[in-house]
Amino acid sequence: MPQHGAHDRPPHSPAGPALSRTVRKAVVPAAGLGTRFLPATKATPKEMLPVVDKPAIQYAVEEAAAAGLDDILVVTGRHKRAIEDHFDHAHELEQALAAKGDTVRLDAVRDPARLADIHHIRQGDPLGLGHAVLCARRHVGDQPFVVLLGDDLIDPRETLLSRMLDVRDRYAGSVVALMRVDPAQIHLYGCAAVSPTGEDDVVRVTGLVEKPSRETAPSAYAVIGRHVLDPAVFGTLERTPPGRGGEIQLTDALQELAANGTVHGVVFVGLRYDTGDRADYLRTVVRLACDRPGPECVAWLKEFVAGPEGDSARREEGRRAA
Ligand code: UTP
Repeated sequence: MPQHGAHDRPPHSPAGPALSRTVRKAVVPAAGLGTRFLPATKATPKEMLPVVDKPAIQYAVEEAAAAGLDDILVVTGRHKRAIEDHFDHAHELEQALAAKGDTVRLDAVRDPARLADIHHIRQGDPLGLGHAVLCARRHVGDQPFVVLLGDDLIDPRETLLSRMLDVRDRYAGSVVALMRVDPAQIHLYGCAAVSPTGEDDVVRVTGLVEKPSRETAPSAYAVIGRHVLDPAVFGTLERTPPGRGGEIQLTDALQELAANGTVHGVVFVGLRYDTGDRADYLRTVVRLACDRPGPECVAWLKEFVAGPEGDSARREEGRRAA
């Protein structure tokens, strides 16, 4: 895979204070099977499903770059070539756009490859999220690093990751992102037992359990797809046997670290979408499309929600205009 250096980054790439941070590397596991989204994900990685006009995984890579992380390792698998191609140059396409003088689209095509130094590694078999993270061990080395789940989209206006990096700087160890969810939904997530710190949005994580039932869940705090991990997690992951679903679970390794008192949580109250879930995927596309400049999407949506009356008004308008 070609490496893309800092010299050809786009002007909106981060610079300044964030680059003084000790955490520089991010890992984006994207080797899962995406079974919840079949058949759309039969031949297309779920991380490549478009959210408005960019694949879901690009939002995660942009978020990492915006937080000052300039080395990003994407963990892919079989049938995931599209991800590698997306973060590479597309010479033929670039030449065609350049010849037409279409600089806006040319930038859009070039940007993914210029966000950071982007590397890829294959997981082989999808043995679980914990195993995907373990595949990054040699690349990451003995330093703290960030894990962003490619199908977990944090609204681009949020600053969750920067906050987590600040918390890691002050508390050391590992930091997970937590969100309060409806207790009826907690069985879909890793769940954290917590105790307070002196800060409103920071808790100490005293225990973690993967996808507990509502009755056994220690809290309504769900672990969402952003982590700042201490390299100690690798040694723990090596010893972690397959857990729930027969997969090596990151949550199980973090449970061991939490028992040692080295895990904190940042409680997030902003906008987050699970693009691996069909209903949430649709909500994400609609929300982000409505946020784009220009009134078209909101106006159309209002009309659509107004139902058949809106439709017939639109038909009538069309007839008058004809
Ligand atoms: P998910 O459980 O959401 O992904 O894992 P999945 O297995 O692809 O989804 P479904 O349930 O079958 O629809 C969270 C993240 O971890 C990655 C996934 O790609 C996703 O980004 N992952 C999961 C791996 O990289 N490797 C694995 O073995 C498992």
